[in-house]
Amino acid sequence: MFTVTLKSTGRRFDVAAGETVLEAAQRAGIALPYSCRAGVCGSCKATLLAGRCDYPRNPPLALDADERAHHAVLLCQAVPASDLLLEAREVASVEDIARRQLSVRVTEKRVLAPDVTGLHLQPVDGEARLQWLPGQYLDVLLDEGRRRPFSIANGPQPDGTIELHVRHVAGGGFTSRVADELAVGDVMRIEAPLGTFVAREDSERPMIFMAGGTGIAPVKAIVEHFLALGSRRTMDVYWGVRSAADLYLLPKIEQWRRQARQLRFHAVLSDVEQAAGAGWRAGLVHEAVLADYADLSGHDVYMSGPPAMIDIARHRFVAAGLPEERLYYDSFDYAPDVLAQIIAGRAGFHL
Ligand SMILES: Cc1cc2nc3c(=O)[nH]c(=O)nc-3n(C[C@H](O)[C@H](O)[C@H](O)COP(=O)(O)OP(=O)(O)OC[C@H]3O[C@@H](n4cnc5c(N)ncnc54)[C@H](O)[C@@H]3O)c2cc1C
Ligand code: FES
Repeated sequence: MFTVTLKSTGRRFDVAAGETVLEAAQRAGIALPYSCRAGVCGSCKATLLAGRCDYPRNPPLALDADERAHHAVLLCQAVPASDLLLEAREVASVEDIARRQLSVRVTEKRVLAPDVTGLHLQPVDGEARLQWLPGQYLDVLLDEGRRRPFSIANGPQPDGTIELHVRHVAGGGFTSRVADELAVGDVMRIEAPLGTFVAREDSERPMIFMAGGTGIAPVKAIVEHFLALGSRRTMDVYWGVRSAADLYLLPKIEQWRRQARQLRFHAVLSDVEQAAGAGWRAGLVHEAVLADYADLSGHDVYMSGPPAMIDIARHRFVAAGLPEERLYYDSFDYAPDVLAQIIAGRAGFHL
């Protein structure tokens, strides 16, 4: 057993043999940032100040050579080989809500966009309401220990309703079932709340929200949280989609704009012809952010959506002056078990 010490707060926790630093921290009730739990998104990145760790599960794919040379480690994969001293960000706000497993019933199912299904779930009779922070996600529990993560698109409601936006992945087992078979009245088992993509209220800086596709789900929850607080901070919401039919939240966003004059909305369509026809911006959503804000040093940025968008944006935004500790994100990767199989199956992959 090894001990991990977090330099900024001095908190310490033990790590059992074979356990990752993230798993041990969660067991100790210490919230460190994470998203994919598979070593590909980089949100659990920390700096190793002393000690050694190994990567017996997935390799640390989210780290580039420069980051590794500067002693960056990925806490979701790193297994200590000695006691460790780490520089890591803690997300104290999520520590108070214990995760739990519960059964929920589908109370509403709607087609939101050509490949997106909206679901409302409610705890079955006898289950207590779920608590979570806006922006967090849940795992749908499948057989053989498999899980599928989905962001919760709303904050906690008096009637316990949990809202999901589920994109159908071609060849995807669970999302195909959601699109084709799942019906109102069906019951699912979930675990929640999970994740550290939550509102940071200890700041007065202007905020940029950037979503790709169904990445709008946790962004919606966080924006609505700031609106409910009556925040006067400037909010720029960028939503990148393929075509106009994918902009399934426009009426809701119009409500936000009426409620808060400091909120601006920017739809960015990758289908250039459609964008021109509909009067929306065309191109890649992170390029639109950078076109508007070449210097991001004064902002807080929240983003969620496809891994490719997250990966390029986190590098480009930091290069545009955004301090890494003010970049909050969830990367919509496939489930950890699926990514582990894909990574293991990569021919000729070496660390
Ligand atoms: C924190 C987080 C939050 C998320 N929130 C949302 C959300 O709000 N909305 C949303 O739409 N999505 C979200 N996602 C993404 C979502 O979890 C995935 O799209 C979902 O898990 C896919 O499940 P599936 O069973 O349909 O597909 P899977 O069966 O997991 O398959 C995914 C893809 O991998 C391929 N595949 C499977 N196994 C292998 C293998 N062994 N080798 C090669 N290829 C393989 C499949 O063909 C398919 O194309 C989130 C992801 C994360 C990490
Ligand atoms: S790389 Fe560790 S959570 Fe994504």
